[in-house]
Amino acid sequence: MRQPNGIQIELERVSKAYGEHVVLEGIDLQIAEAEFLAVMGRSGSGKSTLLKLVGGLDMPDAGAVVHRGLSLNGMTERERARFRRNSLGFVFQFFNLIPTLTVRENIYLPLELNGKTGVETTRRTSELLAELELDDRAHRFPDELSGGEQQRVAIARALVHEPELVIADEPTGNLDLETARRVLELLSLSCRQRRTTLIVATHSREVASGADRVLRIRRARLEAGAP
Ligand SMILES: Nc1ncnc2c1ncn2[C@@H]1O[C@H](COP(=O)(O)OP(=O)(O)OP(=O)(O)O)[C@@H](O)[C@H]1O
Ligand SMILES: [Mg+2]
Repeated sequence: MRQPNGIQIELERVSKAYGEHVVLEGIDLQIAEAEFLAVMGRSGSGKSTLLKLVGGLDMPDAGAVVHRGLSLNGMTERERARFRRNSLGFVFQFFNLIPTLTVRENIYLPLELNGKTGVETTRRTSELLAELELDDRAHRFPDELSGGEQQRVAIARALVHEPELVIADEPTGNLDLETARRVLELLSLSCRQRRTTLIVATHSREVASGADRVLRIRRARLEAGAP
């Protein structure tokens, strides 16, 4: 049984540098289950770097990243890959859909990668198509969609394998204001309904204003930030 709002992710004294350039220094952070956390900071401050460390896409130079008591540092690359495949959903600024797959195929890809096919796959894909208002786009290819539609496909793909954490790096950075609003609303609503933890890096105060908590990276440190 899950503890209500227990700690899901913990960063302990995490540091990361690229050569001489210290991007993050001694970061301590606890993220609760089902929390929606926004990370802000100017361009180059280290938002993407932080998100990659949290998701095990990159490893810190020092310190530990711990998910439900399990340290990512202690895992082999293979174990980390399995952890990402099972437990994480990613949403990127530029959608990153597979151009040769239809909307429906793009969405259920993570299930296929986890070796799952059949009725359950079809059911979950259809449910997300409806939830993200993509029913009538199911058989199109990504280049036949608007930016907002492509990002909604990417959100469905990030959720289809029921991950416990979704990481979104400037998910609305490439969309106009009105579309961005709607996309973010759908992303946060879908995560809230599933009690999926959501971390969003953003430049947008409006995006951050929907979060439970806002943090800002400044001079390689994390500070509490107002949206
Ligand atoms: N693989 C890498 N090799 C060398 N330097 C890197 C690498 N990745 C990031 N950096 C540097 O680390 C710093 C932080 O980058 P990061 O991408 O985390 O910033 P960001 O806050 O996400 O910026 P933006 O808002 O522009 O996306 C930048 O100065 C960047 O140039
Ligand atoms: Mg970035």
